[in-house]
Amino acid sequence: MAREGVSKLDRELYDKVAIVTGGARGIGAAAAEALAAAGASVVITDVLDEEGERLAAHLRDGGCRASYEHLDVSDEANWARVVDKTVAELGGLHILVNNAGIGTMPDVETETREGWDRLIAINQTGVWLGMKAAAPRLRAAGGGSIVNVSSIFGAVGGFGGSIAYHASKGAVRLMTKNAALRYAKEGIRVNSIHPGFIDTPMIEQVKGTPAEEAILASTPMGRLGTPKEIGGVIAFLASDAASYMTGSEVYVDGGWTAQ
Ligand SMILES: NC(=O)c1ccc[n+]([C@@H]2O[C@H](COP(=O)([O-])OP(=O)(O)OC[C@H]3O[C@@H](n4cnc5c(N)ncnc54)[C@H](O)[C@@H]3O)[C@@H](O)[C@H]2O)c1
Repeated sequence: MAREGVSKLDRELYDKVAIVTGGARGIGAAAAEALAAAGASVVITDVLDEEGERLAAHLRDGGCRASYEHLDVSDEANWARVVDKTVAELGGLHILVNNAGIGTMPDVETETREGWDRLIAINQTGVWLGMKAAAPRLRAAGGGSIVNVSSIFGAVGGFGGSIAYHASKGAVRLMTKNAALRYAKEGIRVNSIHPGFIDTPMIEQVKGTPAEEAILASTPMGRLGTPKEIGGVIAFLASDAASYMTGSEVYVDGGWTAQ
């Protein structure tokens, strides 16, 4: 992954503390980099401890403030521990990026109960648990920003597969709007970002298959997006530059949903 830009701090988020879930690699890592480059103190969380520790060390080497914590987003006790520790050590919490997620392919008939429950626990319940754990701390800090990572597949039916993934991402889209209204008067903004097809490990499972050809053929810009192209928009939504945005759904998809 490209690391350029990490040392170019513009300090816009210098007084902010951020938690990023699924931050060890892919889009979450790019979001952590973008937030850290803007001056935020970033707590990278994931279940991939080695990769997460490595990224935090890399960001610190680049002059940024970053640490790593193990956090399985489907575990409510994990959330309480990480949020409590963050506030105790860094003095507060202002930004939450609910990015952790998994992707699976089964359709309506091939999905199993076990596969469904696992995906929903991470992609959907994990986002709710994150908002539940963080919101009181954002309120205590005088306001803040939550960015939930949905997908183009949270708004449209895609190729007719991945039923649990679509269900979870649709739920993230609507939980975002619900929470945005719940907190609109308390200075806590909640927005969702909807990436198109981004070149991360998640997309590896379709590389070299007809699905990859279908993805490229159906993307107006004719290429995959990069994690950095999502990370920058997440940092924007987290910042005061987006101070009048809440309940919004932001598509970053090479034109996919414009069709
Ligand atoms: N890559 C794409 O094309 C694409 C498109 C739209 C949306 N998204 C969404 O972006 C987010 C990031 O995906 P990515 O493409 O970077 O994939 P990725 O697989 O590279 O990253 C996902 C991260 O989430 C972590 N994770 C998985 N289960 C977890 C759990 N229970 N608790 C905490 N962390 C967990 C993984 O370890 C990994 O680091 C996901 O929510 C995904 O659905 C991705």
